[in-house]
Amino acid sequence: MTSTFKLGWAGLAVAAMCLAGNASAQNAPIKVGFMLPYTGTYANLGNMIENGFKLYVAEQGGKLGGREIQYFKVDDESEPSKATDNINKLIKRDQVDVVVGTVHSGVALAMAKAAKDSNTLLVIPNAGADAITGPMCGKTIFRTSFSNSQPGVAMGKVAAEKGHKKAMTITWNYAAGTESVKGFTEGFEKGGGKVTQNLTLPFPNVEFQALLTEIAAQKPDAVYAFFAGGGAVKFVKDYVAAGLNKTIPLYGPGFLTDGTLEAQGDSAQGLLTTLHYADNLDIARDKQFRLAFAKAYKTNADVYAVQGYDSAQLLAAGLQAAGGDIKNRDKLIPAMEKATIDSPRGKFTLSAAHNPVQDFYLRQVNGKLNEYKGVAVKALADPGRGCKM
Ligand code: PHB
Repeated sequence: MTSTFKLGWAGLAVAAMCLAGNASAQNAPIKVGFMLPYTGTYANLGNMIENGFKLYVAEQGGKLGGREIQYFKVDDESEPSKATDNINKLIKRDQVDVVVGTVHSGVALAMAKAAKDSNTLLVIPNAGADAITGPMCGKTIFRTSFSNSQPGVAMGKVAAEKGHKKAMTITWNYAAGTESVKGFTEGFEKGGGKVTQNLTLPFPNVEFQALLTEIAAQKPDAVYAFFAGGGAVKFVKDYVAAGLNKTIPLYGPGFLTDGTLEAQGDSAQGLLTTLHYADNLDIARDKQFRLAFAKAYKTNADVYAVQGYDSAQLLAAGLQAAGGDIKNRDKLIPAMEKATIDSPRGKFTLSAAHNPVQDFYLRQVNGKLNEYKGVAVKALADPGRGCKM
């Protein structure tokens, strides 16, 4: 009898401790780990993503699903060789509940593997590596941006419609560049064009001169270029300085001119690009977002800010359904999968592989704006080839 009572009290004590533990876990902030580039050619992109994410959280009174948010940060330097160590700082050292990152596809591929191995929730606010929503897809891995082939396919279609027959491509030699070019080639050749040569240089090299000389010698009808951030600024300026813009139109995914127009100045005027965002969309949600962003950060929003903002929206949808319990995957994941994100870019849903199904816009640079010119491809889904959840 006595021992039963003793056990009973001990059991009660344990139960009480568990309850207290659960209660404090429920009240403790959710730990969000940003793994983004804060230095190097993509530094500006990383900052815009973080600011976009934080803006949405601030608009919800600093809470998602009723829980406070606590931030952790790692600069990934867009350096794939450091990616596994860097994400483990967030997962193992800081024990974050969710990782938000990154920009560079090579880094993101390593992050997706680490997230899968440790069953960590990962929200990718930019990096488009096709494999992440293909063979490497996973239940806990979500992307709120695009897959690399998507903007390329849209631009290829537009370039073919313009009647160009022979195009050359130029990019950095890593997943984002090669997959973007692959998408362009698919869209362009489907429309009757032919890609005659692919030029590459190592990331994040910006010594474009020899390659521009090669383009001048080959005289294609058009050039398609994937560059972003600081590299995009230099490439567009160098293309004009070499005089190539006078005879060979330059096209690209919208990254070529997004968040870069201040620095590109006159050299970017008139450029046509395709992207899932533009600067003057006639969308009320976008107008409200752009005002709030400009007010908070004293600079105009760009596609990266939108992707950061939408990463927070996606997480919020999951947390709402899970009553703030981020560990309740049975509630969290299906709600994220089914969410319709009311994005500044326009509403979007996710494919079975967790990649946005979204419209791609044709835009043209006018002054400091990437102006909306029309929809290049409607509701484009990436094929999610090889994804088995
Ligand atoms: C990528 O590495 O996937 C990447 C980087 C910058 C962009 C777009 C894609 O603007």
